[in-house]
Amino acid sequence: MSKKVYLKTWGCQMNVHDSEKMLGILKEEGYSQSDNPFHADLIILNTCSIREKAERKFYSELGRIKAYKNKRPDINIAVAGCIAQKEGRAIFKKASYVDFIFGPQNIHILKDFVSGTNLHISTEENPRIAETDLPVKRADSIKAWITIMYGCNNFCSYCIVPYTRGRERSRPSKNILSEAEELASKGYKEITLLGQNVNSYKYDTDFPGLLRKLNRVGGLERIRFITSHPKDLSDELIDAIFGLPKVCEHIHLPIQSGSDNILRLMRRGYTYADYIKKVSRLREKVPGIAITSDVITGFPGESHADHVLTLKAIKEIEFDGLFAFKFSKRPGTKTFDMEGCLNEKIKSERLSEILSIQDRITSRKNRLLEGTKQEIMIGGYSDTDKEKLTGRTRTNKIVNVPKFKIERGSLIIVEITKGKQHSLEAISLEK
Ligand code: SAH
Ligand code: SF4
Ligand code: F3S
Repeated sequence: MSKKVYLKTWGCQMNVHDSEKMLGILKEEGYSQSDNPFHADLIILNTCSIREKAERKFYSELGRIKAYKNKRPDINIAVAGCIAQKEGRAIFKKASYVDFIFGPQNIHILKDFVSGTNLHISTEENPRIAETDLPVKRADSIKAWITIMYGCNNFCSYCIVPYTRGRERSRPSKNILSEAEELASKGYKEITLLGQNVNSYKYDTDFPGLLRKLNRVGGLERIRFITSHPKDLSDELIDAIFGLPKVCEHIHLPIQSGSDNILRLMRRGYTYADYIKKVSRLREKVPGIAITSDVITGFPGESHADHVLTLKAIKEIEFDGLFAFKFSKRPGTKTFDMEGCLNEKIKSERLSEILSIQDRITSRKNRLLEGTKQEIMIGGYSDTDKEKLTGRTRTNKIVNVPKFKIERGSLIIVEITKGKQHSLEAISLEK
């Protein structure tokens, strides 16, 4: 009987994809996946430390896991991901029942752990990981993630990522290309290129060059990428989004704040005027492009006037979607000792103001799509209504249509009949 692994993941798409790599390694070692920790021989917690809340979720899970270890001392427990990298051995001290600790730069070490070496921790900075192609067990058979770069060099003053994922390393374009070709040959239709700052991809080609190469891969229908940093968004990339048929008309371009004061304290490397200029250029050259963003509210020293500038920016730009977060102080980052921390009440009030303005914008923008024709890629049945099929537009909006017989991954043209808050209703124009 094969050994079983229970794997729980928190955090960004990059972390979710790292979990797919862990499952790829474990599959080669004879493991299959279980959704029940009681039946597992190995439990992996793939963690995120972007905000304090994410850390708290991990520690409460780690507490629960102790009970499994007490019942079945032969279970191995591994802590992976960004908390593992940041905390290292301290996790053994807090939870002596943990067997293995490894960071995002050392996923390959999982093979050694499970094959029974004496190694128990691996949180080395690993500059060579970009050259190490790991096996991947993918959760989906139509859409796939491909890592194009690791780490981040930006050191935004609030952010833990450069400390957990290390320096920026780009992966050779031939490895990326052969991964894309292999996926296409297996029937994958959509790839999403992953990196903390894909715009600064640089190996033997730059990011627009990489997109041009990938656009030629036969069988692939859609190419997406995440995340773009505003300071590195070039005209050449905008041209690539416009000119390359497979590259989808959606960009996630985190603004973080509408106040130049705060952007400077955040060390983002652009002003609000710079950001607006890029948004205008995107919208001019790529009509209908969807722009989504991230905002942090309650950054230390954020005055009411700064907050109003963020609200103004949100109203002015009219994002297609927005993730807003309360500032969370991360140990080790530049903001850790910064003065001017705001209390939770103010942060919560500012957050709900931001969210309610954006909600109105999102639903208005969705209503404006009523009557338009859109191409969607069928992802399967809707989670909430099995009578409906669900898919995404090229601009990444969720569309539901009454079900009919069609394969996952098919592209169909639909007419939008209703724009709702979080999705669009449509009818198929295919039959
Ligand atoms: N590389 C991406 C972001 C990765 S983290 C970029 O630069 O845009 C995802 C989002 O988490 C960030 O855009 C930011 O809005 C948020 N975030 C990061 N650190 C945070 C912190 N300390 N507190 C609150 N939100 C944070
Ligand atoms: Fe963090 Fe800034 Fe790097 Fe994004 S660009 S991962 S916010 S340091
Ligand atoms: Fe979290 Fe690490 Fe991603 S901190 S958001 S899992 S890069």
